[in-house]
Amino acid sequence: MSTVIKGGTIVTADLTYKADIKVEGGKIVEIGPNLSGTETLDASGCYVMPGGIDPHTHLEMPFMGTYSSDDFESGTRAALAGGTTMVVDFALPSPGQSLLEALTMWDNKSTRANCDYSFHMAITWWSEQVFNEMETIVKDKGINTFKHFMAYKGALMVDDDEMFSSFQRCAALGALPLVHAENGDVVAQLQAKLLADGNNGPEAHAYSRPAEVEGEATNRAIMIADMAGCPVYIVHTSCEQAHEAIRRARAKGMRVFGEPLIQHLTLDESEYFNKDWDHAARRVMSPPFRNKLHQDSLWAGLASGSLQVVATDHCAFTTAQKRFGVGDFTKIPNGTGGLEDRMPMLWTNGVATGRITMNEFVAVTSTNIAKILNIYPKKGAILVGADADLVVWDPKRSKTISAKTQQSAIDYNVFEGKTVTGLPRFTLTRGVVAIEEATVKTQEGHGEFVRRDPFPAVSTALSTWKEVTAPRAVQRTGIPASGV
Ligand code: URP
Ligand code: ZN
Ligand code: ZN
Ligand code: ZN
Repeated sequence: MSTVIKGGTIVTADLTYKADIKVEGGKIVEIGPNLSGTETLDASGCYVMPGGIDPHTHLEMPFMGTYSSDDFESGTRAALAGGTTMVVDFALPSPGQSLLEALTMWDNKSTRANCDYSFHMAITWWSEQVFNEMETIVKDKGINTFKHFMAYKGALMVDDDEMFSSFQRCAALGALPLVHAENGDVVAQLQAKLLADGNNGPEAHAYSRPAEVEGEATNRAIMIADMAGCPVYIVHTSCEQAHEAIRRARAKGMRVFGEPLIQHLTLDESEYFNKDWDHAARRVMSPPFRNKLHQDSLWAGLASGSLQVVATDHCAFTTAQKRFGVGDFTKIPNGTGGLEDRMPMLWTNGVATGRITMNEFVAVTSTNIAKILNIYPKKGAILVGADADLVVWDPKRSKTISAKTQQSAIDYNVFEGKTVTGLPRFTLTRGVVAIEEATVKTQEGHGEFVRRDPFPAVSTALSTWKEVTAPRAVQRTGIPASGV
């Protein structure tokens, strides 16, 4: 049984050309003119692109006294409906919990996934046990990324001591550290002051997390990575101050990656001043939405290559959950959805407006992150032998985004009412059609875990626990040599 995607224009991160694609056993087996197979999918008038990879989701995550409301089933169904064929979620040990135990919890949840997935492992505390388990996570479990929260004081936050130790361990293991870069101590003080002054509404969330808080932490994370001799990936880069730090580090030769979210690119801070409390609270996330100048900076970064990836940080809470924060904005669960809308919103606001090219669209939604995560060309490529994770993209198909028709399990959509032009005609996950225009054919449990091998480690010096506390010489030979 084979499927041929016929009559479309293939768009990759480098090339645009007309050819058919033949798929068999979940892989691309042939690319060329006039192919035939058992089944044919009509791609005429469409662009055929690598399926999107969203490297930043929080599905069914315990957070701020509740659980995010999209699980691996509804979340990956939403992903496929929008042309995304792989997600990378965060396994989150609570401080004191074993990394391996947390990973088992995430393994159990992910059995329901409709598309392929992988995990980043969060470092939320530091000990000899964590140090040792990191090696097992990389070598046995196929996870080459570790996430560090510089914010959420008293919960997930790690301090500089812990971060420097963990970064050095990453360097030794050939792993890439990821950072949520906001100064959690400053945020906590600003929150307390705002509340004491009687500012308890959702707009105070934005005041408590100014761009300087993010710029400072981004700089600090980059400098610490430089001293540890590892590359670093800054998640949800939302402002010029953070982008500037990333640009400067890259110009010096460091491997630093920045990930704007589709929400920050297309929604601004005025959302928090909406008189409807629910409207504003539904958009509370960290970092908060910024003004147009920051948005312009992010778009410029995508076009110039100083920012490499567009993600969602999909972390969806219902209105009822958001209302935990009535009277105290610090209790509004932080997070917004976006999995279904990332690709159509980026196409509509990026490609259709001329801000980025089609090839750059493929790079920032799929290929760049596949290289950064060391899963290219299995994912993120249209090449013989690659997984047939593909989207047949109809640039003329249009819809108005609405919670009434979305796949996500929550009762609203932060992009409600926005019209997008450019949507999947077909989404294929390892060769299986999961979406055919508005018809959802996803199969619960079809998704498989994608193993990600470590990069060649830059140092073997940190193989024992006692050595990790000793600072090392600054070096810039980091990993990965992804070419991104
Ligand atoms: O507000 C956000 N971003 N919620 C999800 C957790 C995180 O910080 O990424
Ligand atoms: Zn975060
Ligand atoms: Zn509203
Ligand atoms: Zn996140």
